[in-house]
Amino acid sequence: MASLFSSPIAWLLLSLTLFTIAATMVPQVEGRAFFVFGDSLVDNGNNNYLLTSARADAPPYGIDYPTHRPTGRFSNGLNIPDIISEQLGMEPTQPYLSPFLKGEKLLVGANFASAGVGILNDTGIQFVNIIRIFQQLNLFKQYQQRLSKLIGEEETKRAVHESLVLITLGGNDFVNNYYLVPYSVRSQQYSLEDYVPFVISEYKKVLQRLYELGPRRVLVTGTGPLGCVPAELALHSRNGECAGELMRAAALFNPQLVQMLDELNQEVGENVFIAANTNQMHLDFISNPQQFGFVTSKIACCGQGPYNGLGLCTPLSNLCPNRNAYVFWDPFHPSERANRIIVQQILTGSETYMHPMNLSAIMAMDSRA
Ligand SMILES: *[C@@H]1O[C@H](CO)[C@@H](O)[C@H](O)[C@H]1NC(C)=O
Ligand SMILES: *[C@@H]1O[C@H](CO)[C@@H](O)[C@H](O)[C@H]1NC(C)=O
Repeated sequence: MASLFSSPIAWLLLSLTLFTIAATMVPQVEGRAFFVFGDSLVDNGNNNYLLTSARADAPPYGIDYPTHRPTGRFSNGLNIPDIISEQLGMEPTQPYLSPFLKGEKLLVGANFASAGVGILNDTGIQFVNIIRIFQQLNLFKQYQQRLSKLIGEEETKRAVHESLVLITLGGNDFVNNYYLVPYSVRSQQYSLEDYVPFVISEYKKVLQRLYELGPRRVLVTGTGPLGCVPAELALHSRNGECAGELMRAAALFNPQLVQMLDELNQEVGENVFIAANTNQMHLDFISNPQQFGFVTSKIACCGQGPYNGLGLCTPLSNLCPNRNAYVFWDPFHPSERANRIIVQQILTGSETYMHPMNLSAIMAMDSRA
């Protein structure tokens, strides 16, 4: 019996079919889209497009970035989302406000983070024009409409559903709100013990909204040990000990965050929200910087005053020659090298660091699904 494909007509039909499929093919999502929300720890340049004082667009920011120029990242080089993209073999996400984020670049994902924001709408008001978290989520919705025009609604839904999300919030609700000035509005309204559950309950609403928008894998970082950053050492520390009140805030906030994420996962019936214990990761650096190859965890590389912790990192600040030797790049933000160690823990950390599982385990599970 002659096979169907020995007929020239069948070949012609097959070629025509393949040609038609290829011609109507829309751009495909290659790999996984990545979306980033939050504050200066993960902003990679949105604030450059805004009229705000919360910006990192002057040297020496970016001194170790591939271009050696400032980009808006609060780092000497790469920040946490950049390194996650790098480690997962993805292109880095671009700031959502960047005019270069268009067309097929949208398939990579987008970064909506804005330095200065917090969980609460009234956090960071001194920075005036920043993208508050609910607005970041509205922009995510707008992003999905833009992507739909490119690849259709169904493919967009799928891309968002299968995406990875990173969200980093909370530090500013203490540093740039509750403790910003003595007798702040929030500190008069709430004791710390009552403020933390309030902030956590507001965070829960943010994450519920994020879930409604489609993503099913969300890495949520806690705060670092807020009292140990060079800025707080400069203000509150005589002997290099971490500032007590902010340590208390972080000690209350982080476990309650994990508890809230567990609750959310129970409510949605799957492990959507993954807690990254950035507090413990930083405490490891602080308790033994040498073990990680750092010279100090107290003094910022770029800054002035005690611990280089006063004011901002500017072209006139002290600048350390070897950024890799410092946990802190500026008075608040980790160096690229510290960020790399944090991302390594996010990828492969044990249950102490990543709850209920690390990112490698997530990637393995999702690739099997
Ligand atoms: C913050 O603002 C959003 C809208 O932008 C609103 O939905 C939300 O209720 C506000 N949160 C608080 C605590 O006022
Ligand atoms: C990463 O998570 C997986 C799954 O929970 C676990 O088996 C693995 O041991 C973790 N990696 C490390 C280094 O603990």
